[in-house]
Amino acid sequence: DYSIKELLAKGKKALQEEVVIKGWVRSFRSNQFIALNDGSGQNNIQIIINYNDFDTETLKQITTASALYVEGKVAESKGAGQEIEVMASKIKIYGYAVPEDVQETILQPKRHSLEKLREQAHLRFRTNTFAAVMRVRNALSFAIHQYFNKNGFCYINTPIITGSDAEGAGEMFTVTNFNLDNIPKNKNGNIDFSQDFFGKKTNLTVSGQLEAETAAMGLGKVYTFGPTFRAENSNTTRHLAEFWMVEPEVAFYDLEHDMDLAEDFLKYCIQYAIENCKEDLEFLNKRFEEEQKQKSKEEKSEQNLLEKLEFVLKNKFIRLSYTEAIEILKNSKPNQKKKFKYLIDEWGADLQSEHERYLVEKHFKSPVVLYDYPAKIKAFYMRLNDDHKTVRAMDVLFPGIGEIIGGSQREERIDVLKQKMKDMNIDEKELWWYLDTRKFGTVPHSGFGLGLERLVLFVTGMNNIRDVIPFPRTPKNAEF
Ligand code: 4AD
Ligand code: MG
Repeated sequence: DYSIKELLAKGKKALQEEVVIKGWVRSFRSNQFIALNDGSGQNNIQIIINYNDFDTETLKQITTASALYVEGKVAESKGAGQEIEVMASKIKIYGYAVPEDVQETILQPKRHSLEKLREQAHLRFRTNTFAAVMRVRNALSFAIHQYFNKNGFCYINTPIITGSDAEGAGEMFTVTNFNLDNIPKNKNGNIDFSQDFFGKKTNLTVSGQLEAETAAMGLGKVYTFGPTFRAENSNTTRHLAEFWMVEPEVAFYDLEHDMDLAEDFLKYCIQYAIENCKEDLEFLNKRFEEEQKQKSKEEKSEQNLLEKLEFVLKNKFIRLSYTEAIEILKNSKPNQKKKFKYLIDEWGADLQSEHERYLVEKHFKSPVVLYDYPAKIKAFYMRLNDDHKTVRAMDVLFPGIGEIIGGSQREERIDVLKQKMKDMNIDEKELWWYLDTRKFGTVPHSGFGLGLERLVLFVTGMNNIRDVIPFPRTPKNAEF
C-alpha cells in the first residue's frame, strides 16, 4: 500500500499500477470525482469512479468525511494541478458519515474560522490548516531530538510531579490524592500534607531545569523535552497552562556559549522544517499572505512567511544588554508619545511583550538576544554579575512572537546561591539536593528553555498558541 503522499510523489512512474488507497472523503463532485485524503500530506488524490460500475448502496455512502477503501489503476490526470489519479475498480466503505451531521461540523468543506476549529478540536486533524501545523510540529520535535543527539547531548526525563518550584514564581498546580470533601488539617487548621500520597505538598513541574542541572553535573550535556505546567492566569495568544518545553543544560558553558547554542539550535530546527515540510509550509505561506491582506498598513509584515524564515537563518541575531535595551526603549517614539501601555522610565523595570516586540519588529527588525537582566526580576538560580545588580540571564526574542527562549548561566558558587535564596525567601531545606550539586565538584554551567509551541507558532505563521497544540489547556478551558 502507498500513502497518498507517497503515491503522489511517485507521480507518473506509478502509471498503470494497481494500487490500494485508504482515506477520508474531502469532497465528492458530479458523482464522479472523489478527493481523498489520508493525513500523510497536504494534497488529496483524485479518485475517478464510473457510476455504472458501482451499486447504488455504495455510491450513496460516499459522502464528505466518510472513510473509504479504494482499489484501482493509476492513470494520467487530465485536470490541472495533479499528474495522476486513480480509476477505481473497487470501493468499500469503512465508515459512513451522515451529511446532515457533517454540515454542523468543521468537516464541511468550506473555510471555517480558527475559533470554530478550536471548538471542535477533536475534528480539526482533518482540516488542511491544522493538519499542516501538526506535521510541522512533528518535524520540529524530531529536529530537536536530532540536533541534540548529533551534538552529544543525553536526553533526560525529568519528573512531572515534583516537590519544588523551579522558577520560584508560585505558578503551580497542586497534585494530591486527598478526598477533596475531607482534607486532613493539622492543629493550626492548615492542610496536613504529611498525610498526602507523597507525604508532602507536590505539584506539576513548571520546569525540569533544576533536575537537569543535577544530570548535567554527571553527564555533561543533557536536555529535557516534556510537558510543563503553569497556573499563570494570563489569557494571551502566547501562553498555555500546559506546554512542551525543551531544556538543554551544559556543564562548563558560560553565557556566551549558551547564546551560541540557542542561536545554532533554533536555526537548525527552522532549516530542518524548511527542508522537510515544503508542501505544508507553502500552504501555510499562502494562508499567511491572505491574512496579511486583511491587515492595516502598520501591522502588515514586509516579508511573507517563507521570507521570514529565511531571514532568521541568514542573519546573526543581535545581542544586546538589558541596560542598552532600556536606553533604546526610553528614547523610543512609543515611549515618548505614551503609546506603550507600560512606560519605561527607569532601569530595573521588567520588559512587557510590547517592549520586546518593539525592539525586534520596529527597532532592529531582527531576532534579538537580551542579556544581563536586573537580578530582582529574574529567578534565584541565575549567576550574579560582578556589579551585584545584574544576572547572567538571556532571552531570545523573535519577530511576531516575543520571548521564544529564556535561559541563563547558573550560580555555581554555593555561598552566593544561598544568599540569593535567602533574599528571595526560598527554603534551603526544600532544595538540599540542588545545593548538593554546588558541594561536590561544582562547575560553571548554563542552559535554556524553549517553548515548543512558540517555535511552532513562528514557523507556521499562526497567531494563536491554541492553534499549534492538539488539545490546548488555558484558563477555563480543558473540555477534552
Ligand atoms: O523563561 P522560562 O520561564 O524559563 C524557564 O522555565 C527556565 N527554567 C528555562 C531554563 O533555563 N532551563 O520559560 C522558558 C520558555 C519561554 O521562553 C517560552 O518560550 C516558554 O518556555 N514558556 C511558555 N510557553 C507557553 N506557555 C507558557 N505559559 C509559557 N511559559 C514559558
Ligand atoms: Mg522567561
